[in-house]
Amino acid sequence: MFEKYKKVLKEDYKAWYKENEDYRKKVAADPRRLSFHLMPKTGWLNDPNGLCQFHGTYHIYYQYTPFEPTGELKMWGHYTTKDFVHYKDYGPVVFPDKDFDAHGVYSGSAFIEDDTIHYFYTGNLKYFDRDDYDYINSGRGSNTITFTSKDGYDFSEKQLLMTNDDYPSDMSNHIRDPKILRHKDTYYMVLGARDKKGVGMILLYQSKDLNHWTYLNRITTPEKFGYMWECPDLFELDGQLFLICCPQGVEQKGIDYENVHQTTAMKISYDFETNEYEIKDIKLFDRGFDFYAPQTFEDEHGRRILIGWMGIPDADYTNPTVENGWQHALTIPRQLLVRDGKLIQQPIGEMKQLRSEDKAVCNFYDGQEIVLQNVVYEAIVEYNKCSSMTMTLREGITLSYKDEILTLDLGAYGAGRTTRKVHVKELSHLQIFADTSSIEIFVNHGEEVFTSRMYNLNGRVTIQGQCQGKMTVYPLKSFEIEGDDNEK
Ligand code: FRU
Repeated sequence: MFEKYKKVLKEDYKAWYKENEDYRKKVAADPRRLSFHLMPKTGWLNDPNGLCQFHGTYHIYYQYTPFEPTGELKMWGHYTTKDFVHYKDYGPVVFPDKDFDAHGVYSGSAFIEDDTIHYFYTGNLKYFDRDDYDYINSGRGSNTITFTSKDGYDFSEKQLLMTNDDYPSDMSNHIRDPKILRHKDTYYMVLGARDKKGVGMILLYQSKDLNHWTYLNRITTPEKFGYMWECPDLFELDGQLFLICCPQGVEQKGIDYENVHQTTAMKISYDFETNEYEIKDIKLFDRGFDFYAPQTFEDEHGRRILIGWMGIPDADYTNPTVENGWQHALTIPRQLLVRDGKLIQQPIGEMKQLRSEDKAVCNFYDGQEIVLQNVVYEAIVEYNKCSSMTMTLREGITLSYKDEILTLDLGAYGAGRTTRKVHVKELSHLQIFADTSSIEIFVNHGEEVFTSRMYNLNGRVTIQGQCQGKMTVYPLKSFEIEGDDNEK
């Protein structure tokens, strides 16, 4: 019904929704639908957007294309929750309905000030009036746009803040994904950027009122680190400034940077008086196949919470869910903490509410094998010692540890995904969340994480090797998601 790159108004979507009950039924019937992850009701999902907590309610917006599972025209979908177990689904709520965002309501963020949610996003435009555009340095518009809300549901008019003419003249057309940081009495906006020479970086703007923005600086590594840095997130935690962003075009280095695009966390020291900075400790933020474009926010309890896209663009592996009309999901929410100067990720405490009573607890010893048949579960493995081990996470899918290397092997069940590895000096703890078609593995209380889709529904959990300890496996209950699209 929708031609590529034509505006979509809310009414258009409502009419489409009415006609597509069968499509929704087809998606809902897929056994690979996840039970404790947020997914698109139909079609495609990518980045989390506009994450915030406002008057107790968490708002989770996301890049959404309801019409087909391959992700063409992007808008923002919307979920809310108060407890990260019960959710409400509002469907798409921000549409590509203006001349300045007609080809995509791209990623953006929320910032709360004066009891108001201020949203910032990128309005994507692609020009079709000539056929010699490369869509890198010409033919593309990246508009920075804002709107506000007093409740997270009703939005003000969109307001155009910046166009490509407002970015430095040596930039390519690729500028996007605004995120706000407040430092003392000044607001800072980071934007992901690619310059004309193909160097990835972030642009830093400043403002006193969230409406008038002036260019301040660009932040990049001394040596080129990829050609484009998407979805930057600059935040302070424990007195340290961190930059999480997604560099594209970084070359593989041994077992690092094996995915087509990366998510990295950098420690950064920035002097806001002199604008001098230094980037230290660049770390690959997730070791799995499907993690990208994460976003953080500080909730009303002061927690820094992160949600990522459990997917990745341009990968050569696939998701068979496309056959059933949908693709991708968000990760479980994680709390970021600083331990020994390092940024770590832990599943938020609320996830414990999903544990069912009938847990299995078993002690394992050198050489002995424990076998359970769970499919959707959380497994906690506490090691007294471990020099080597192999776990089965699902039939034919293993996690093994040998010579200080921890390897996730999806065997024949990765739809093109093979193995991913990380160096772990000492393995002391694992916390594993297995959903119907995804796995998230937190190593040593969040020092490292593997996030991946996987495609085998035959449950099997085993542990065996030169290791001793205790394993607890909890079958997990599902999220409860209520609400039909369009109803507040
Ligand atoms: C990251 C990204 C963003 C962009 C959005 C479009 O996955 O490419 O840079 O704003 O997705 O959906």
